[in-house]
Amino acid sequence: GSSNDKANSTRDISQWLKEGGHDCVIFWGSQSGTAERFAEALGRECVACFGINALVADLSDYDAESIASIRKDHFAIFLLSTYGEGDPSDNAAGFWDWLKHFGDRSVKLGNLRYAAFGLGNSNYKYYNHVLNVAFHAFNTAEAVSLMPPQQADDANGGTEEDLQSWKDDLFALFRSLGYEQKSVVYQASIDVEFTAEPIGNCTTITSPSHHPSNTNSAVQPLTVKNARELFAKGDRNCVHMELDLGTSGLGYKTGDHIAVWPVNPDDEVDRLIHVLGLQSRRNESFTVKPNSETTKPKLPSLTTLATAFRHHLDICGSVARKIVLEVAQFAPTPQAKATLLEFGQNRHRYEQLTSNTHITLARLLHLACPTESWCNVPISFVIEKLLPLQPRYYSISSSSVVSPRTIAITALVVNKTLPGEPASIVRGLTSNYLLSTSKLLAATAAGTALNRCIDTETLQGAKILAHIRKSKFKLPIASSTPLILVSAGTGFAPFRAFLQERARVHMIGKDIGKILLFFGCRNNDDFIYRKEVEKIQTQLDNKLEVVTAFSRAGGKKWYVQDRIGEHALRVLEMLEAGANMYICGKASMAREVDAKLETVVGSTKGIGEQEVKAWTQALKKRGKWKADVWG
Ligand code: 2AM
Repeated sequence: GSSNDKANSTRDISQWLKEGGHDCVIFWGSQSGTAERFAEALGRECVACFGINALVADLSDYDAESIASIRKDHFAIFLLSTYGEGDPSDNAAGFWDWLKHFGDRSVKLGNLRYAAFGLGNSNYKYYNHVLNVAFHAFNTAEAVSLMPPQQADDANGGTEEDLQSWKDDLFALFRSLGYEQKSVVYQASIDVEFTAEPIGNCTTITSPSHHPSNTNSAVQPLTVKNARELFAKGDRNCVHMELDLGTSGLGYKTGDHIAVWPVNPDDEVDRLIHVLGLQSRRNESFTVKPNSETTKPKLPSLTTLATAFRHHLDICGSVARKIVLEVAQFAPTPQAKATLLEFGQNRHRYEQLTSNTHITLARLLHLACPTESWCNVPISFVIEKLLPLQPRYYSISSSSVVSPRTIAITALVVNKTLPGEPASIVRGLTSNYLLSTSKLLAATAAGTALNRCIDTETLQGAKILAHIRKSKFKLPIASSTPLILVSAGTGFAPFRAFLQERARVHMIGKDIGKILLFFGCRNNDDFIYRKEVEKIQTQLDNKLEVVTAFSRAGGKKWYVQDRIGEHALRVLEMLEAGANMYICGKASMAREVDAKLETVVGSTKGIGEQEVKAWTQALKKRGKWKADVWG
């Protein structure tokens, strides 16, 4: 019967394309939402600019096998992101599995016409691995590539720009396929309506984009128990903060991550409201309703501009070139419009501007027209174009065995000074938020007057919105297993927890394996938790050996990988004797540590590259070699 046919066809992409009268499908594989957002925007542009009826498709909603039956009069676009150790996004798991078995199943894709784009980060070892594997598999299966695959590199925050230039090429392809490009006017995908409805209590603000799962807990406000600066050297600070899990219902395990939901500073909120000429509506409530089912909510359905800008939208991020172009249509003067078009149309001019000055949306509008407010920019446009505010993940630096109800965070405050005149500073949003909270607490404790730059309104009660993300960065069950810990900078955070836990287990009389810690930092000034480490060394009867690598202590620059080279034989010996190895810090550091270890293994054992790979893979598979890294 027909209902049966329907049931059979629901996961078959070729059926969907045929029945929906679509021209193409835009598949996305996305973890943090970038590829998904881009796919949705691209889908809308396909219709609006070319009349191409595109089906935007979550890879996990369809059977990958059915891609083989997509007909020749359709085409497919793949947006594929790569994470961690060359892994696909969770929603691409089925697709990935299918790709990997092309060889043994002799899959043929002669009818598939496609274009592919990858999102990755070249600081990681397996850069855009998913795209490369897909392209290779498609080639082998004789699919028709409509244009060379391209990649976005997030290493220097280049994803937006890379996506933009790929889209330029894709649109050129559309034109060559005979689709005519129309110029379009802005059409809102959400309706914004001001109302007299009062807004409830502000402490329950959570992001509508956060969905608790097996790995991510719900978001809860946590009280800051105490905070202090581990060091403050010039413009570089490191904050240690302890959060009370109290009655939040949250729990954690040593090695987990805590996601901190930042709050935008008041001066940035004011700047944007001011430049848009919306001062009088600052605290007026409004409702947000999507125009179509596919529009994902970024804001609660009832909110205010002040709340939306402070808690939900990324107003401090630099503005993408695409948006510079789009906002030009609402310019208050022809001069302002010309300025925006110049930056928006010329990649080089745009890059010059953004590499010299920190250009947020508010700063851009002010720069293009400092004398008038931008009242013609629809609020819906601002909400649509700003990215949702994302949490920042920190490796928890306390042990759940030693302090089960208190979580410690160790955060480096990152500020980058750009060379423009006057010099402008890009402030790390979340780390500065933690730093101001810590300063506020110190000031309150000391009874001193508050520094005006501290945002008093949002810090009231010093609660921080956060959730816990489970990780696989776990200590071995047996405390007698020896450990090799490799970290640079705040990468030491989870190892502080590991050491605390080993010290506790030792105290209750259990056998403790040897611990070899490699710790890299600039010099003695940023050697975080030094006293604690020394204390644990005495507690553990010197079972803890610390090897430091100072990069800026005068004389030779030492990195942890250099020290691993020096201690290579012992490291290998420990690994062969069953030690667990953990690496935590920046991805670029981890990659070099991996490379050093591979060289050492190869030369010591006298084996070739392939065998070395097999050896390290085996350790990783057995959970003896773990990494917790960031970009
Ligand atoms: P730097 O002085 O060159 O910045 C914490 O930031 C420590 O990690 C610093 O000593 C820093 O050295 C070092 N570091 C930076 N890049 C690194 C890399 N690729 N590998 C190892 N250590 C690195």
